[in-house]
Amino acid sequence: MDLKYITYQQNGQIVTITINRPKKLNALNAATITELHEAFKTANMDLEVRVIIVTGSGEKAFVAGADIKEFVRFNQIEGTQLASRGHELLFDYVENLETPVIAAVNGFALGGGLELAMAAHIRIASDNARFGLPEVSLGVIPGYGGTQRLPQLVGKGRALEMILTGGMITADKALNYGLVNDVFAQDELLDKADSLALKIIANAPSAISAAITAVNAGFDVNQNGFEVEKQAFGSCFGTADFKEGTNAFLNKRKAEF
Ligand code: COA
Repeated sequence: MDLKYITYQQNGQIVTITINRPKKLNALNAATITELHEAFKTANMDLEVRVIIVTGSGEKAFVAGADIKEFVRFNQIEGTQLASRGHELLFDYVENLETPVIAAVNGFALGGGLELAMAAHIRIASDNARFGLPEVSLGVIPGYGGTQRLPQLVGKGRALEMILTGGMITADKALNYGLVNDVFAQDELLDKADSLALKIIANAPSAISAAITAVNAGFDVNQNGFEVEKQAFGSCFGTADFKEGTNAFLNKRKAEF
């Protein structure tokens, strides 16, 4: 992979993808989105990789949004294409990956930054993190899933207050809203993300993927989550992971996945 705007670091079974445009507060330009797609794809296809962590470089920003300079002159058609392409390459793509993704939000998560964090399966944050969807202040609305995933995570009223005011909330408030699962000091954030990843890695990877599929199905209007769960549950019974997990339990040993 030829990477200019992000870094890709593998440490055993964990890959950390870092968005690396700190002078632009890690804003998502088209090239960064393409690189992120390649990085997530590569990590997901590598069977050795069991958890992906996504974070931002520097101490100020996770991602301060889509790159405003890039879309300032777009017309209606280009605007629609921008959102569609983003979903396809990054936001829907991340949400539906078989490999779990943890967003370690290390600062501003605004617009597309918050939308990327919300597409991840789990979010943790540093205590200086700030969250918001300021798009209406620019005359647009969130276009990378923000109007859908924020209400799913925090409820409609809180989501609409954030979207309509365009204001930012603190890490503590995000924790209180259930937007993030935990808040840590900034210098602890990546270690905590690794610890969380290791807890996930102790479990069966095929079951982890099936669980992501079933949970996501419940938020998809075209699917019946309970039916998807039944099928995914059944499919687990044919896996080597199931044999290993159940045999290990019955033989009073730790399963090795
Ligand atoms: N797109 C493009 N560039 C961005 C950006 C974005 N979303 N967010 C920040 N930047 C750039 C700034 O233009 C500036 O670049 P410059 O030094 O070449 O002028 C640099 O990042 C630093 O940002 P700056 O605004 O100077 O930092 P600050 O500490 O004063 O303010 C923010 C931080 C996050 C409050 C502010 O940058 C901001 O409001 N960004 C836009 C957030 C937004 O609306 N996101 C949604 C986009 S749809």
